[in-house]
Amino acid sequence: MKLSIVGCGYVGTVTGVCFADLGHDITFYDLDEKKLALLGAGKAPIFEPSLEELIRRNQHRFTTTSDLTGAVHDTDLTFVCVGTPSQEDGSIDLSYVLSACSAIGKTLKNLPDFHPVIIKSTVFPGSTGGSICSVLEKKSDKKAYVDFGLGSNPEFLREGTAVPDFCTPDRIVLGADDERTMGALRSLYTPFECPKIETAIRTAEMIKYASNAFLATKISFANEIGNLAKKLGIDSEKVFEGVGLDRRIGPAFFGTGIGFGGSCFPKDVRALIAGAKDYDEHLRILPAVLQVNEGQPLVVVRLLQKYLPDLRGRKIGVLGLAFKPDTDDVRESRAIPIIRQVLDAGAEVIAYDPLAMENFASLFSEITYAPSAEAVLSAEAVLITTAWEEFEHLDYHGTIVIDGRRVAAASRDARVYEGVCW
Ligand code: UDX
Repeated sequence: MKLSIVGCGYVGTVTGVCFADLGHDITFYDLDEKKLALLGAGKAPIFEPSLEELIRRNQHRFTTTSDLTGAVHDTDLTFVCVGTPSQEDGSIDLSYVLSACSAIGKTLKNLPDFHPVIIKSTVFPGSTGGSICSVLEKKSDKKAYVDFGLGSNPEFLREGTAVPDFCTPDRIVLGADDERTMGALRSLYTPFECPKIETAIRTAEMIKYASNAFLATKISFANEIGNLAKKLGIDSEKVFEGVGLDRRIGPAFFGTGIGFGGSCFPKDVRALIAGAKDYDEHLRILPAVLQVNEGQPLVVVRLLQKYLPDLRGRKIGVLGLAFKPDTDDVRESRAIPIIRQVLDAGAEVIAYDPLAMENFASLFSEITYAPSAEAVLSAEAVLITTAWEEFEHLDYHGTIVIDGRRVAAASRDARVYEGVCW
């Protein structure tokens, strides 16, 4: 098939490049010419392991364009993959999706063929069939589900493992309210052997939110039990190894520590809470999930102050600035509130991250960025905030280590070793 991808961020780039690898012809469109230029030059606009290799291998199967009409008219289906950031009240900001769909709608006006528009951006249930549908119909002067198709195909890929997540997913969710769009999605995903759920658009949208909210809930639940376990002298890892062996529960996402960050979990949980209010549903579990998550960085600072009660003038090391390993993404990184508190308490911070220092420097200019992880060990105490593998094997001998990610648990030769939930 010929596919156009509108929005070359995380989801759009990975989706397009992986579909190209399956033999489809891809047209990438973005308002940001820099992203298109990078893709055109065989480079990834985002950091993701193995993505650049896949781009180089499939470059003959994709084109980049700033002509949206050409992109839509020359392809069989369009994926909308633009960002849906948070608004101040936590609800999602649909403006990028609506403006992309307004532009796509205009291109549909003179297109004689039926063309499915598939929303991959994470949107609150009801948005695709609501305001997104309206703008497409208004700008195209056509009827959705009859003259053009509309669908939802949420993406579950994780940063750092996006390519394998895309290629071998646990499931694929196909949301469509008309048979022709469902048929197009079905045929596109034929080569994938995982379970596929065919459902209504708004159900597909809700599956994405409910999945992310549940995973976030698992993490906060583990952290709440983990905080108590530590006080009782119990190692939470062993606890969740035992809990996770129950097949009704499963072992994933019970990693205790300083909580979840990144571009999805915090945003999606907030969006679900805020969106539910419009339907007079006042969610109770999810605000608690966020509350536990906000508390975990404080645990690190509390443990640090057990050994250095007065942080004024102290030099504190921070290992890890990315929200998780194998990415340079610092959005909602737990290192942010931790460093803020340490600075507020009057300490100096020296930090290191293998990939994310440049991105972090745009948030914090008042800390020192170290050339290596070893250089951070000169600090009076070291806080581990991202589970980069290279932090496992450092010589922590003689150091105060407060480990937020259970990275250095094996190397207990530190002067003091404290884990957040162990
Ligand atoms: C997440 C979802 O997993 C993915 O399906 C969705 O498409 C996008 O959001 P991502 O944000 O890339 O993916 O990372 P993920 O691996 O899920 O981790 C999110 C955060 O949770 C990280 O900060 C990570 O450190 C934390 N985490 C994860 C834990 O604290 N404990 C765990 O057990 C797992």
